[in-house]
Amino acid sequence: MLMTTKPMFDLAYDGGFGVGAFNVNNMEITQGIIEACAAEKSPCILQISKGARQYANIRFLKHIIDACVEEYPDVPIAIHCDHGDTVELIRDCVEDGYTSVMIDGSHHPYEENVRLTKEAVDVAHAAGVVVEAELGMLGGIEEDVVGLDAHEYQKNIEKFLTDPDEAKDFVSRTGLDSLAVAIGTSHGAFKFAKEPKLAFDRIEQIMKTCPGVPLVMHGSSSVPKEFIDLVNKYGGDMPNAMGVPEEQIAMAVRKYGVCKVNIDTDLRLAMTAKIREVFATKPAEFDPRKYLGPARDAILDMVKRKLHVLNSAGKADDVIKHWKKQGEPLPAYYGKHAAAV
Ligand code: G3H
Ligand code: 13P
Ligand code: ZN
Repeated sequence: MLMTTKPMFDLAYDGGFGVGAFNVNNMEITQGIIEACAAEKSPCILQISKGARQYANIRFLKHIIDACVEEYPDVPIAIHCDHGDTVELIRDCVEDGYTSVMIDGSHHPYEENVRLTKEAVDVAHAAGVVVEAELGMLGGIEEDVVGLDAHEYQKNIEKFLTDPDEAKDFVSRTGLDSLAVAIGTSHGAFKFAKEPKLAFDRIEQIMKTCPGVPLVMHGSSSVPKEFIDLVNKYGGDMPNAMGVPEEQIAMAVRKYGVCKVNIDTDLRLAMTAKIREVFATKPAEFDPRKYLGPARDAILDMVKRKLHVLNSAGKADDVIKHWKKQGEPLPAYYGKHAAAV
């Protein structure tokens, strides 16, 4: 069932779970995610980066997601824009039927971040779409997400973390619905130079200055060693890859107000490891279904594993009940395109 992230976060905030936000780029990835969420009865956020919009053409991705909504009516689904960087992009996402958007002005000076975020909030809220915005800086480098080198980030981490008092001001001046915080996570597969420790004390402080505001953790892949080993065993070259330990992610959603956890890298690793394995062990194989099919299953297994880390397995029915009870409308787009729901 399609919805905004609001009913999910209402329950997640002090319900001891977090909602996985998984990046989608093609059919197999999307199917792997949604099949895992259906099997585990978990809500899910399907998120689309600017790079994904360009790679797949948003019309194709949107139809794939619409098919998920039709095929899996019992799964709470939000369609989210990941790292939107301009108000024009936010406007396009609203017009494309997203139910949630992120405006990421975190790399701008503070006042510019406030101005950009407020403008995006005005555009999105006018259409019934909820908004995530970011304060603080994450490490790592992703296409379209400029971050910091792992060594530099970890060495100087204090100065990049979200400031709790600034967060309070940011929330009240922008009217955002959820806040992406820098608390020691980082994008990509090479997040850290040494074992990380998330700044739980900082989350606690932000929760005090911003009571009730759902928090979002980007860069939350764990880069499990067994997947890096598989990639490297079958011809890959990813030395020194390192992620956020799953126990720390589990703690963030169970004990704190972290409601949304962004995971992309671990899906990429699962898919890549499997395709490499097929190519290495069956060199005569050339039917794409014979490597994309196993890759889809690898995504499914990875997402199931994540849903247990996030403790969101089994929460789908409660979220749907809550959404119906609230009687919240879908974004305006769905008034105009009723058949699409
Ligand atoms: O945080 C960024 C996501 O991993 C999306 O990456 O911009 O390469 O699609 P992308
Ligand atoms: P990872 O690179 O840790 O998967 O983070 C993804 C992300 O934050 C997408 O916005
Ligand atoms: Zn991110």
